[in-house]
Formats: sequence, structure tokens, C-alpha cells
Amino acid sequence: MPTDETPAGKTPADPHPASRAVFGGAPLPYMRWAKRWLMPDPLSLGLSGLPPLPADQREELGLSAPSGIGDPWNALKSALAERYGLGPENVLPAAGTSHANFLVYLTLARQGHVVVETPAYEPLPCLAAQLGASVATARRDPERGWRFDPDSLERALRPETALIALTDLHNPTGARLHAEDLELIVEAAERTRAYVLIDEVYADFDPLDRPTSALRSRRIVTTNSLTKAHGLPDLRAGYILGAPSVIRSLDEMNDLVHPSLPPTAMADAARYVPRARALLERTRALAAERTALVDEWVSATDGVRWTPPDGGITGLLCFEEHVDGDEVAARLGDAHGVRAVPGSFFQVPSAVRVSFLLREDDLRRALDAIASVLGELR
Ligand SMILES: Cc1ncc(COP(=O)(O)O)c(C=O)c1O
Repeated sequence: MPTDETPAGKTPADPHPASRAVFGGAPLPYMRWAKRWLMPDPLSLGLSGLPPLPADQREELGLSAPSGIGDPWNALKSALAERYGLGPENVLPAAGTSHANFLVYLTLARQGHVVVETPAYEPLPCLAAQLGASVATARRDPERGWRFDPDSLERALRPETALIALTDLHNPTGARLHAEDLELIVEAAERTRAYVLIDEVYADFDPLDRPTSALRSRRIVTTNSLTKAHGLPDLRAGYILGAPSVIRSLDEMNDLVHPSLPPTAMADAARYVPRARALLERTRALAAERTALVDEWVSATDGVRWTPPDGGITGLLCFEEHVDGDEVAARLGDAHGVRAVPGSFFQVPSAVRVSFLLREDDLRRALDAIASVLGELR
């Protein structure tokens, strides 16, 4: 379990943080103070909003009931800590993986140097650009099942690299991060004193139940949410796992971004998390069936290759180099009502990403449409 020493000096748990000075090192000292001291209390002159409406008034207004859990924030942290074999100090809830990733970049990589895998989920390079960081790419190699190309990783690293960012399972290919690649990346991070962001939002689709990479090294921070593999996108329940000092920094930075999450959503997530593993079995089995169907279709179709994903419901269909994936996606949409994501969004122009958890006959029709478009372009 990643641990680290408590930094010297006062913390918000101190009994009398009377002045701004106690929280002075935080990005937003006021919010640190407010989170410590402002809560409903008969003698509090500090609260800036009404206390929560009572349950009967909410019901009258047609609103959902209050969460029914006294402290959903800590309930969710505990449920996640239990699930991953970590302590609550290793966990920070977030509003989906998007918010989690943003916080990691904002806190650890702003105006620094970032190494991002390619193909990549586009926010990973774009976040760096928006936060004034320079970006270099580490190539994943299609000829080796989308494993990292060690030379490319080495070329991308700099002594001042602040963050190495990747996904596991990989978006867009669904490839599992190879254990030796993880070791390579940890070694590179330790050498350059960089942090590693591993976006594990698709990891729960993996039929191989692996521990989170956050357990591997205190340089690794993982992000995740219930929005993909769990069918609970409406909760926007995400989280970050990492060493306590990193989690503390992210939490403090979050005061400026999203200082409190919706309690009802956190409470639902806290109730769900202990049951997550059991519910995933069915999803994984269905995903495996659909993967086999697409794989069969790829084998029987000229001009298409893929590496079947190790898990999950998406994969990258790669075409011959002269075929423009944007054009394929546009024709699929216009002529067949079939949506596929242009590979150019993942820096692979002659490809499209497909998510294949459709009803079986719909999936066959959609794949037939791809074959027909490729025929037109031949
Ligand atoms: C790799 C990856 N990370 C994060 C997200 C966004 O996740 P969330 O909806 O939990 O913000 C996505 C969505 O497609 C994704 O593919």
C-alpha cells in the first residue's frame, strides 16, 4: 500500500486553526478552513447557504430523497479503500474520471513536461496543452499488441518530465497494460522523479481481475469511475487512488475546482461499490461474446485488422493506410445511420473505434455497413 510520511507542521485536524496562516500553503486557504469549521451548528455564523431542505419538503417538490447516509464522502472513501485494499487516505472521490484526470494534470503537470501514450484518448494530450505543459508521445506498437515501444518512451522522457499519462485498459484498443511495460514505466518515473497517471476507467471490464496499479508504486496515481463498466453514468462517481501526500495535494487543489460533490450520488456509489465485483461478471461475459463476434467478422473481411481487446466493449478497427477513417465514419453515419469514432481522434487516421455492445443482430448490421463502405472506397 503506498504510504508516506505526514509533512511537518499543522494539519486541518489541529484543534485551533484560528488563522489563515495554518492553511496558508494550500491553493485555496479559505476553503480548507471552511471545510474544517463550517457545518450546520446552532451557533454558526459562518454558513453562506440554507441548511439542506428536510425530506418531506423535498418529496413535496418531487425531488429525490436525501442520501440517507450521514457522511457520504467518507462512506465512499471507505468503500473504495476496502475494495482496493488501500486506506481512506489513499482515496479521493471525484466527479467522474474526467474531473479526476483534470485534477491530476492541474496539480502535477501544469507548465511541466508530459509524456502521453499514442494512440491516446484525446483529453490526455489536450489537457497538457491547455495547462501550458509540453507534450511528447510514447508510441504503442500495433505489431506487438499495442505494447509500449521502449525506445519511443525513452525518447519522450526528459529530466524534467512531470507526468507520464496512459490508459489501462487502453483506449482506443482495449489492450491490457503489459506487466513488463508497467515496470518499464515505473522505472522511468523513478529515474526522472515523474508521476504516472494511469486512467483505469476501463479496467473493470478486464476479465483478469488485477489489482489497481496504484498499489505498485507511490509514483502512480490511478483514476477511475463508475461511468463505463458499471452502467452508472448518471452518478458521475469517480475517484483517484494514490499515495497520501499526492491525494492530499489533489484534494487541496480541488478546493478551486469542485470543492464538494453531490452527496446523493456519493451515497449511491458507496452503496454500490461493495457489490461491484459480483455485478461485473455478467458484463464481462457479454463483452467477451461480442468481442468474439467482431473478431470473426474481422477475419472474414478484407482490408480490416485489429488486435482483439483484452477486455471491454471497444476496439480499434485499422484499415489499409490509404483509407481515411474520417471518411469511413462520415459515410457510415450518412448512408447507414451507423456511428463509429474516427481514428483521427486517437491519432490513427486510417482507423475507426467501435463500441460493440449492441444487440447481436444490430451489431451484425453495423459491421456489414462497415464492409460495404470499405467496398465503396476500394
Ligand atoms: C480513457 C477515458 N477516461 C475518462 C473518460 C471519461 O470518463 P467519465 O465519464 O467518468 O468522466 C473516458 C470517456 O470516454 C475515457 O475513455
